[in-house]
Amino acid sequence: MINNKLDYKIENEIRTWNVNIPMRVIGELKKTIKSKWINTGPKEKKFRELIKKRFKAKYAVATNSGTSSLRCALASIGVKNGDEVISTPYTWLATNTAILEQGAKPVFADINYDDLNISADEIEKKINKKTKAIICVHYAGNPVELDKIKKISRDHKIPLIEDCAHAMGSEYKGVPIGGSGSICCFSFQCVKIVTCGDGGAITCNDKNMYEKLQSKIWYGFNKEKKKIDFLNPVSENPDGLGFKMNMNDIVATFACVAMEELDKSLKKRKIIGEIYRKELNNLSKVKLLNYKIDRKPNYQIFPVHVQNRTKFAKFMWNNNVQVNINNRRNDAYSIFGGINKNLKNLNKVDKDVILLPIHLGLNKRDINRIIELVHKFDKS
Ligand SMILES: Cc1ncc(COP(=O)(O)O)c(C=O)c1O
Repeated sequence: MINNKLDYKIENEIRTWNVNIPMRVIGELKKTIKSKWINTGPKEKKFRELIKKRFKAKYAVATNSGTSSLRCALASIGVKNGDEVISTPYTWLATNTAILEQGAKPVFADINYDDLNISADEIEKKINKKTKAIICVHYAGNPVELDKIKKISRDHKIPLIEDCAHAMGSEYKGVPIGGSGSICCFSFQCVKIVTCGDGGAITCNDKNMYEKLQSKIWYGFNKEKKKIDFLNPVSENPDGLGFKMNMNDIVATFACVAMEELDKSLKKRKIIGEIYRKELNNLSKVKLLNYKIDRKPNYQIFPVHVQNRTKFAKFMWNNNVQVNINNRRNDAYSIFGGINKNLKNLNKVDKDVILLPIHLGLNKRDINRIIELVHKFDKS
């Protein structure tokens, strides 16, 4: 029965999440450890090369988390006390705590009901003189309407940060997410498609921005440009205040292997995602997201709209299938100033979205069982 189940004790169940670690990571880690170079070094550089190549981005910075990537991006744009940043209220709260950490205010624009992404029209309505940046999240790895949002960013000369934490391997109009030319922030936290425990990356196409980001991640010094003095390792003045958010070579070793396995992971997720979309189409109580034809999702997660979500969750859990709500609406947290009832689509989504399991640990029997149960619930 659901009440007795502690999360960490779950056995014999289909879980919402799993962690994908290619076991050859262990051999690669041994090599790095034996080399004794465990600080930011050759592996971190290799990882950035892999990222640049994959996303067709000019520049890549490696960090210690997605949250750090967002914070560094905001700091590099110059977001500060008193500024406003237009953002989505439907995301993991890191998207918006990064704004608070810079002393700025997240201004929430409503989302689309059909894909859970921030609405471009709603972004435009929120722009004012204080707006210093726009953040969008490619929610569930299903890309936002990027052309429209980029146009708003260009027209108003307000930088766009793409929170790509869910979107490793997704594409928009044939371009990999991360290669759009905006500032793109990735997370490699444990349930992400590419993981190294914790880690992050930022891509961009602007040299100036790249250099700022490189110095923000390490105390205000750009390690690549730093003068080497035989006596004093940091003889110059830092380029303003920086953080300690660089990726080390142990983490980077892990991340390189995970990157090399990306296509395998994407392939399996695509199979599961497409089976769900085929088999769960046209139900009456359970509705799929809108996956637009010009975008390629990576199925990082599989959210659906469900009538009577609590009843559905109990039914699934009682049949040994774990289903979860991924995020609370961020304005429900008092740090963001309280619930904004005017966010109409968010009000609906907050009541009816839930995740079905999707990960590399699922076998055919699991997938069939999930589909059967969803059908059974739909008919009940
Ligand atoms: C949308 C989104 N943004 C940011 C983050 C933060 O990433 P990290 O946990 O690597 O700091 C997450 C993490 O899950 C996320 O889902």
